[in-house]
Amino acid sequence: MKATALLPFATLATAAVIALVPDVQTFPSPSRKDAVITRVRYGPHTLKQAVGTPSDPKGTKTTIVTTNAQKPCSDCTLLSMNGGVQYANGSEASNPSVYLHHGAIINVGPDARDGTCDRPAYDLFFSTGNERSTIIYTNADAAKPAGYYIQISDKFVLQSEIINSDLEEKQVWVYMNYEHIPGKPVGHQQTKVAWLSADTPACQRKTDLETITASGDAKLGAGEYYPPNEKSFTLTGKPWTSPWNGNFVALGGHMHDGGVNIEIYQNNKLLCDSQAKYADGAGHDMSGSGGHGNSAVSKHLASMSGCRNTNTVKKGDQFHIVVNYDFEKHPG
Ligand SMILES: *[C@@H]1O[C@H](CO)[C@@H](O)[C@H](O)[C@H]1NC(C)=O
Repeated sequence: MKATALLPFATLATAAVIALVPDVQTFPSPSRKDAVITRVRYGPHTLKQAVGTPSDPKGTKTTIVTTNAQKPCSDCTLLSMNGGVQYANGSEASNPSVYLHHGAIINVGPDARDGTCDRPAYDLFFSTGNERSTIIYTNADAAKPAGYYIQISDKFVLQSEIINSDLEEKQVWVYMNYEHIPGKPVGHQQTKVAWLSADTPACQRKTDLETITASGDAKLGAGEYYPPNEKSFTLTGKPWTSPWNGNFVALGGHMHDGGVNIEIYQNNKLLCDSQAKYADGAGHDMSGSGGHGNSAVSKHLASMSGCRNTNTVKKGDQFHIVVNYDFEKHPG
């Protein structure tokens, strides 16, 4: 009698342990009373297992493309956003097992226009690397309020590359934390996100939904660069010409292990110096398998500093980046 009574209890207890966290969760915003954070998680996705041996695993990349990714809200304004990777139970999937090469959200709605080239229906407005930084869309200057307005017609696509360094498949979810307010307040300016790369000139690359969904090894459309053989080098990107008049909200860089800093210039004048910071194994740094080299003792890139300012931008202003790498200092 006791045994049969215990059985359903045991089943229930097991079910409670593996219960998934909901795919949509809401949290209060730490910065504003009128804002909420909606966390949407996309998945599950199966990461291919690493190859090699337990003492020398070689990470394997899995590419994820989700068209029709759920939006956090419609007719609402994004203030900030960050994201990451998690397991079924909601715990963070990070070093040394899981390295987030990038997780991006692209707005492919018919009324979307991209921030870099002002082209239609493909707006890469969010991307995070393993440093899992926050992108800020709202202006620090309250006199010039701004945000990324999400229209009813907007459609989101998730594109992500994740590297698994364990010798087993695993199930993960890519999640995004969207901080937003309802509607589009009167006087709010639309925030545009422009991406500058050390690689191809910003608007020379073809970027559309077809390109990222067509092949198994989809490319995001942002730059990817195979570095020279030298231990330390500087890359200067081709200039980008702003199609916009406006004010800067925030600026920051994204690098991989070996990176020292990224300088952002406006009409040849230094606007922001985004510095890489390094940390030991713990935290959201970079696993060797995803970076350049594989050393158990080295420190990995953990964060990039950013700048916030209200400098004005004029249509026709020229911007370029200068990127410094030093693998002697930061071997990765
Ligand atoms: C959550 O899941 C991961 C991966 O399966 C596991 O390593 C971790 O211990 C779990 N955490 C908790 C609190 O159950």
